Amino acid sequence: MIVLGIETSCDETSAAVVQNGRRIFSNIIASQTELHAPFGGVVPELAARRHIEAIGYIVDQALAQAGIALDDVDAYAVANGPGLVGALLVGVNYAKGLAFAQNKPLVGVHHVEGHVSANLLDDGKSPKACSVLSPPFLSLVVSGGHTILLDVQDYNTYNVLGGTKDDAAGEAFDKVARVLGLPFPGGPEVDKLAREGNPLAIRFPRAKVGAYEFSFSGLKTAVMQYIVKNKDYNAADVAASFQQAVVDVLAENTVKAAQDKGYADIALAGGVACNRALRAEMKKACEENGLRLWMPPPILCTDNAAMVAARGYYRLLSEPAGDGWDLDVFPGRMV
Ligand code: KG4
Ligand code: ZN
Repeated sequence: MIVLGIETSCDETSAAVVQNGRRIFSNIIASQTELHAPFGGVVPELAARRHIEAIGYIVDQALAQAGIALDDVDAYAVANGPGLVGALLVGVNYAKGLAFAQNKPLVGVHHVEGHVSANLLDDGKSPKACSVLSPPFLSLVVSGGHTILLDVQDYNTYNVLGGTKDDAAGEAFDKVARVLGLPFPGGPEVDKLAREGNPLAIRFPRAKVGAYEFSFSGLKTAVMQYIVKNKDYNAADVAASFQQAVVDVLAENTVKAAQDKGYADIALAGGVACNRALRAEMKKACEENGLRLWMPPPILCTDNAAMVAARGYYRLLSEPAGDGWDLDVFPGRMV
C-alpha cells in the first residue's frame, strides 16, 4: 500500500511517500525556521500562510522524488492534531482535496503517535534498519510540545502512561536557550554549546513527581536564578548541567516504565530525541538494564510526513474506509 503523508502541524511543511508503513520512497521537508527566527518563536499566523504557499510544491516534490504519479497513491494520511489550528487546517484540507479528487481513503493521524511511528521506518540508509520493531513497546516522545510516556500495546493502541506537569522537554530547552542568548530554535544550540561544558559543574534540581510524570518548570527557574546570581557564569557549563538534569529524569523514568510493563523495547521519538546527550544516556541506561533501544535518525525525529504516513498505514489496515470528509483538526495537547 502506497500512502502519501502530509504534515503541517507547526513550522515544517512536509509530504512523504511511504510503502507499507515502513519503506520511505520520499520525505520532503520545508522548514520555516528562518521565517520565525526574528520573532524568537513560531508565529502561528505566519506559519499557516507559509504552509499554504508551500504545500502544493512540496507534495509534487514528494511524488517526483518517489517516481510515482498521483494515481499510484492508494491512500492519504494527514496529521490533524495536536498543533497550531491554522497550520493543521492547511494540511488537512489539502489532503482532503487530493483524496476526494482521487476517490481514495483519507485518515487523520495523531501527531504524537506519528513521532513514535518514525521508529518503524526504514530509510534504507541507517546502519540499523528501523523496520523490525513491532509492538508491544514503550515509547518516550520528547518534542517542543510534548513529553509523554506511551505504552504502545499494538499498532493502533497507544496508551498514555504519563507526561509533563508543566513545560515539555523541548520547551525547556528553548527557554533556557533564550536566557543564554542563543538563537531560535534553541534546543540544537544548547546541545551544541553543552559539548564544550561540564555536565557536573552545577547540580540543578531533578523534579520528583509521579512515576511516569515529568516537570521542567522548576529546573528552568533554577537555571534563570543561577544566571542572575552568578554574573560571570560559564554558559557552556550551564548548558551542559541543565541538559544533564533533563536527560537524567527522562532516562530514569523511561527505563522504569519499560521494566514495570515488562517490555524489552524502548522507542525514542520527537525533536529532542536528536539530542546527543539524551541518545547517549538512553543507550547507556538500556544497555545496563538489558533493554533494546530504538532511535530514528535525527531527520526522522523532528517533524516530517514519513512518520505520518507510517502511522496512517496501520490505521488504514484496521479501518480501510478511513475517516469521513468531515475530518476535523484538534489543536489541543495530549496531556
Ligand atoms: O518534534 P519537533 O520537531 O516539533 C514538535 O512537535 O514540537 O520538536 C521540536 C523541538 C524543539 O523544542 C527543539 O528545540 C527541540 O525539539 N530539539 C532539540 C534538539 N533538536 C531539536 N532539543 C535538544 N537537543 C537537540 N539536539
Ligand atoms: Zn512534532
